[in-house]
Amino acid sequence: MTHVNTADFDVYPRISQLLRVECLDRWLTLRWHDGFTARFHYLWLRDNCPCEACVHQVTKEQTFELLAIDAAIKPVSANVVDGLLNLVWPGNHQSTYDSGWLRYHSYSESPAADPVPQPILWDAALGAPPTFDGAAILTNDDALLAWASALASHGCSLLTGVPKSANVGDVARRLGPVRDTNFGLLWDVVAEPDPVTNANTALPLPPHVDLPTREYQPGIQLLHCLVNEATGGESILVDGFRLADEVKNTRPDLYETLCTIPWDWANRAKTSDYRFTSPILVTNTQGTVTEVRLGNWLRAPLTSVPFDQVEQAYAAYRYIFALSFDDRFALKFRLGPGDCMVFDNRRILHARGAFSGEAGHRHLQGCYTERDELYSRLRMLHRAQRVEAVRVCTTSSL
Ligand SMILES: [Fe+2]
Repeated sequence: MTHVNTADFDVYPRISQLLRVECLDRWLTLRWHDGFTARFHYLWLRDNCPCEACVHQVTKEQTFELLAIDAAIKPVSANVVDGLLNLVWPGNHQSTYDSGWLRYHSYSESPAADPVPQPILWDAALGAPPTFDGAAILTNDDALLAWASALASHGCSLLTGVPKSANVGDVARRLGPVRDTNFGLLWDVVAEPDPVTNANTALPLPPHVDLPTREYQPGIQLLHCLVNEATGGESILVDGFRLADEVKNTRPDLYETLCTIPWDWANRAKTSDYRFTSPILVTNTQGTVTEVRLGNWLRAPLTSVPFDQVEQAYAAYRYIFALSFDDRFALKFRLGPGDCMVFDNRRILHARGAFSGEAGHRHLQGCYTERDELYSRLRMLHRAQRVEAVRVCTTSSL
């Protein structure tokens, strides 16, 4: 099988052999043996030429400059040779494309595939967070992949049996670097006599995300239970995307408010002054909710909205905040030593019941990492599987 350079460090198993190419005015159509077809614009193909002149062969980053060509560029010839697509452009520039790469990146019928799963919304019927062996994910990449996939799709997970030799940072680093904040790389959740945050009291904490006071909220939060001998202090998780869906279905007017009218967030601290203003539901260009910001004790006095929208802002806030306490949406469980709950802090609300330290001690240790790290790790684990598939295929065909 002919091997062709691709403009990256990935590998692309050839699901089926490339059969033929048909050229039209501004794009071409490729057809594979198994019937799969895809259209590619000429401009897109020229932009993605993987040759040595267009891509630095060590960094794999593009050296080709898009403005160097005519936007209406069209190949002078297009052929399928040995299952590869060969194009010759005006000026005799030649591009050869791997058929597996083309298929992986085909975009004409649907966006190119990404191994990061789409969110699966859940409510109390889920019963419990997707649960995995905390020792296995530290050393086994198959276990890591299973956990990371569930964390990406459900936004929450529970690891059990995290070995005493590992701290919460060791768990996070299986995904990627730990994110530092003013609370430190690793921080302790314990009731303290002189707390800097409500988290470090024995008070109940309503459903919230951490640090909505920041322009960029931490993407992934880990809470590792070291000791839990206290009475009470149950852990609660709520899917913020599911709550957004509920508001959209039951009060579309308030949903619109949550997506458009901002709230002011601020921490109260002796040594820092973090503030950010953002709608509670953050949406992307398709109108899909990508981020939830809710943290009752981290709200600043609301001053950023026009006077005549303040009551509407309060109505919308009260509606989604009330839903966040509704048992229909909550997972409730008790953390024990060695348990570590890991969740998407920009999607999942977490809460805890009040606890009494009189019966013993309660000590969680937490840290943050990012969605980017989770998604990158997931893609790398999938890449490793593709590399292995190609290796096995190559070995067996020798
Ligand atoms: Fe928290």
